[in-house]
Amino acid sequence: MDHYGCKVCECTSNKEQTSCILVMVVGTIIHMATLCVCGEREREGGGGVNYRKMANLFLKQAKQYSVARPGYPQQLFDFIASKTPTHDVVWDVGTGSGQAAISLANIYKSVIGTDTSSKQLEFAPKLPNVRYECTSPNLSISELEEKIGTESSVDLVTVAQALHWLDHDTFYNQVKWILKKPSGIIAAWCYTIPKTDDEFNHVFHKFYSESKPYWDSLRGLVDDKYTSIKFPFDPVDGCDHTGPFEFQTEKLMNLGEFCAYIRSWSAYQTAKDQGVELLNDGVIEEFTKAWKEDGNGQKSVTYPVYLRIGKVGKYLNN
Ligand SMILES: C[S@@+](CC[C@H](N)C(=O)[O-])C[C@H]1O[C@@H](n2cnc3c(N)ncnc32)[C@H](O)[C@@H]1O
Repeated sequence: MDHYGCKVCECTSNKEQTSCILVMVVGTIIHMATLCVCGEREREGGGGVNYRKMANLFLKQAKQYSVARPGYPQQLFDFIASKTPTHDVVWDVGTGSGQAAISLANIYKSVIGTDTSSKQLEFAPKLPNVRYECTSPNLSISELEEKIGTESSVDLVTVAQALHWLDHDTFYNQVKWILKKPSGIIAAWCYTIPKTDDEFNHVFHKFYSESKPYWDSLRGLVDDKYTSIKFPFDPVDGCDHTGPFEFQTEKLMNLGEFCAYIRSWSAYQTAKDQGVELLNDGVIEEFTKAWKEDGNGQKSVTYPVYLRIGKVGKYLNN
């Protein structure tokens, strides 16, 4: 049967589907939010930010996301792994379709990738040492214990291109609770806009600035290269600050794939929901004129990656 979906959390858990069946049977028109049993209600975190709404920004473009988004360079993982004394367990938060989990699985014995979107997880690679879990946006400690692990049991928490969507105070308390003390590490990174050659960069920068009204204000933390994001951890051994440390990732793309990358943006989806097609005919024409392929129908697209890394150390609730 069709799943009606909760208007609040779009939860697709079996429990909720039971509620949907119930709705059909009794034939009562009740607002779905009153029935949802996934345990999550629309809630506001500090600063009036609605973290459920943030989490829902990636529901509709999961397939585009899995094919069009870049993975991350080996140097990034080597650097992070060199800072954890043991390589047992990683919790990859906001794992999406496993862009970081797939590489972490080569280094750590066990990876738990969590995401609020079961749609995103559907497209994540299935690997023997990776377990995916769909979670609520703000996990309680008991949910954390049930889905990820016990207190002080995790070597590394990673957050790839997702820290800006999280409620930092709640999340950092979870991180503090679950990381091994004092050596547990948190590594969070983002990538900013892609770079190609000067001609295409120029056209793309104009397009990106025109897309600004459709980005959530939290995207500003990415534009800022995570320099201003709250990150209350101690520098890891061998470093005197917590970053950002710069890396670079590269993806070969044809223009169609590049457009799929744009369609995977939360801003693209937000614009579409408001009846605006960001990739309109005029934009596609400008892109086509400026897109000079490097060979084999593809172009090298690079994304600067900015890493914040720290250890739980003596982190107290500050
Ligand atoms: C930009 S994507 C990043 C995906 C992947 N880690 C990557 O590197 O491409 C952000 C992901 O965070 C998830 N997300 C948003 N809010 C979340 C939250 N509060 N808890 C867990 N995941 C969340 C979204 O569903 C989405 O899959």
